[in-house]
Amino acid sequence: MDYSLIQIKEERLRKDLLDLARFGEEAGRGLKRTALSEADLAARQWFKERMKEAGLKVYEDAAANIIGRLDPKSGPADQPCIATGSHIDTVFQGGRFDGALGICAGLEALRAMQESGLPIPCPLELLVFTDEEGSHFAGTFGSRAMFGQIKEGETEKSRGTGRPTLAQDLRRMGKEPKQIGQAVRSPSEFRAFLELHIEQGPVLETMGVPIGIVDGIVDLHRYLIQVTGQAGHAGTTPMLVRDDALVKAAGIITRVNEAIKSAGPDIVGTIGEIRVNPGAINIIPGEVEMALDLRSLKKETLASVKEAIGEIVNSVSKARIEPILVKEGVKMDPQIRELIKSSCRQQGIPFHLMGSGAGHDAMTFPPLNIPTGMIFIPCKEGKSHCPDEDISFQDAAIGTQVLAETIMRIALANQPV
Ligand code: HGY
Ligand code: MN
Ligand code: MN
Repeated sequence: MDYSLIQIKEERLRKDLLDLARFGEEAGRGLKRTALSEADLAARQWFKERMKEAGLKVYEDAAANIIGRLDPKSGPADQPCIATGSHIDTVFQGGRFDGALGICAGLEALRAMQESGLPIPCPLELLVFTDEEGSHFAGTFGSRAMFGQIKEGETEKSRGTGRPTLAQDLRRMGKEPKQIGQAVRSPSEFRAFLELHIEQGPVLETMGVPIGIVDGIVDLHRYLIQVTGQAGHAGTTPMLVRDDALVKAAGIITRVNEAIKSAGPDIVGTIGEIRVNPGAINIIPGEVEMALDLRSLKKETLASVKEAIGEIVNSVSKARIEPILVKEGVKMDPQIRELIKSSCRQQGIPFHLMGSGAGHDAMTFPPLNIPTGMIFIPCKEGKSHCPDEDISFQDAAIGTQVLAETIMRIALANQPV
């Protein structure tokens, strides 16, 4: 097979990435394109048009995932598909390429595969998942909804007072949250899933290597910690009789941080979100809600730190902790890793095998026995989830070329050559 007939176009990819980056752009503050916000809805509409222009059949499922499908020109359309994709939503004040790269690269790969004139023997899908970042409650909502993994009542939850629930935002776009079950598909519909993503860390740039081949993704646990106190007048309540929820929360934050650090380098944890209620200068804080994100490649380390954190929270009066999301770490498929390596070798591109400390929709597929692969490209100074997130378009093109070739290699695996 002459894979060199597949030639992605860097200029077209770059234009898509820069056009998409305008949705949610806030001067000096990066992108605010949180899931199903006005900016996200506009970006989704724009992207659906690009998918249609590329010849894909486009539809949206009940969980607001966008699905673009390319059926084979000859041969049955009801065989399992090879899917690629990522997410279009960003974190608050996020960067231009987290998620966006994977969907724009998937689009460009599908265009280049069609332009190559090579016969594509099975259906291909481009998937744009809803709320990967979990700005409503938990993360990877869309891919979990696709396989029936949304917990009862989850869409009605938010991470704190005043935050929109996913159910509210789904209704706003004309979808009935109770019907998200209609988004469920069978794993047997998928032959493989591949995601291209920025590394979000410094390894590839430091090594000067343009491609990372992911071997595994960390366990990712998220928790909500609620601390209740007694609201009261900031001027008249003596210090010694106060029950200040924020002061208690501050102690928890410090002790949780110490517990994580003292467990060594195999685990990271962050309390990056905190809401003080009612949140006024002249009211003693009556309640604090905060979110903890905990990740490790080592299950035992995670379990012992989780236990220590539980003890810390339970030692504080009127404080409690509950899980938001528990995603087990996953391994990428060895055969797909080999096919990615073959694509790199064919083009003389150096690669590096590595783990992922970031969570991705690609985590949803391996437990369902859907062979899954992830390809990383470097990101500047390892920065991500911040306005400074940046990449080189040349690296993006290299990653997209590897993605396109690998999709074709998977399509042809087990086929006569
Ligand atoms: O939070 C994460 O790991 C990812 O970037 N969604
Ligand atoms: Mn992210
Ligand atoms: Mn991402």
